[in-house]
Amino acid sequence: MIADALPSLLAATQAAAVACQPWVGRGDGKAADAAAVAALRDMLAHCQGQGTVVIGEGEKDAAPMLFVGERVGAGGLPAFDIAVDPLENTTACARAGEGAVAVVAAAPARTLWATPAWYVDKLVVPAEAAGAVDIRWPVDRNLSAVAEARGKRFDELVAVVLDKPRHAELVAQLRANDVAVALIGDGDVLGALRVVLPEGDADILLGVGGAPEGVITACTVRVLGGGMQIRLAPQSHDEVARVKAAGQAPGAVLSLDELVASDDCAVAMTGITGCALLGAPRRQGAAWTTESIGMASGRAVQRVDAAHVPHLPERSPACLTS
Ligand code: FBP
Repeated sequence: MIADALPSLLAATQAAAVACQPWVGRGDGKAADAAAVAALRDMLAHCQGQGTVVIGEGEKDAAPMLFVGERVGAGGLPAFDIAVDPLENTTACARAGEGAVAVVAAAPARTLWATPAWYVDKLVVPAEAAGAVDIRWPVDRNLSAVAEARGKRFDELVAVVLDKPRHAELVAQLRANDVAVALIGDGDVLGALRVVLPEGDADILLGVGGAPEGVITACTVRVLGGGMQIRLAPQSHDEVARVKAAGQAPGAVLSLDELVASDDCAVAMTGITGCALLGAPRRQGAAWTTESIGMASGRAVQRVDAAHVPHLPERSPACLTS
């Protein structure tokens, strides 16, 4: 069971979150990313089984990353795929803003969708509305489906959307339908959790965001219950060429089952900077206490506070003065 790997995955995201702490608010997202990547890689080496990184963050922004195809794990069984984002919401970390997290998702080998795409259009809805929506439909038709499934009026719905210029028309459409729009600067993995967690405060997530974050989100939706579709949405000629070279079609739609072809998956997430869902690591002497969420198929959502005595990487003098 991949779910059995959850403690190791949590240890990895906890280490990544602590490793970022010297960089919080220092304006250097890449250095924070590098610290998170190194810590995650070190800890994943202890994970039981043989893992392969299927999709990860970094290449789009020329940031440090775990490479696609990179092997992780201590060996033996199970064989698993992982989708990683050692520092999701780099900007929040660099600016000491809200909602930076370290996150890893795992599923059995060859069950996570792999793509060279950087961007996908996402539609995430709660379990009641799963199967009642379609990313190809006009926005108001999907809103009707969600409103009916949730027993709400349009003016009671909350839609989470990344606050990006590309979403101006989407936001206008939502507001024209009297739907409240929760605009988030970055971090659509957490944005989607607001839709699918039982205590979540939103009804739908819409819009174009990162492809790795899409696969990680698909694992959370798979574990927690909910509906999700994505559509390949390359944002540049280069990206169109990458997608086509991999035999994938720009504009192609994928279902949740195609994104994660297994019921057996696990997701670990640890707060790097605080937000409503997860606190930032707290320092107590030489130790840090982290806040995490562990999600695995067939198990209750775990909230984990853990103490660490880490060996934090030093910040270099060049970074201290930049
Ligand atoms: P990072 O992990 O690179 O900081 O990603 C933050 C994020 O906001 C994601 O949550 C989102 O999916 C993606 O970036 C959107 O990309 P862009 O900021 O390029 O529109």
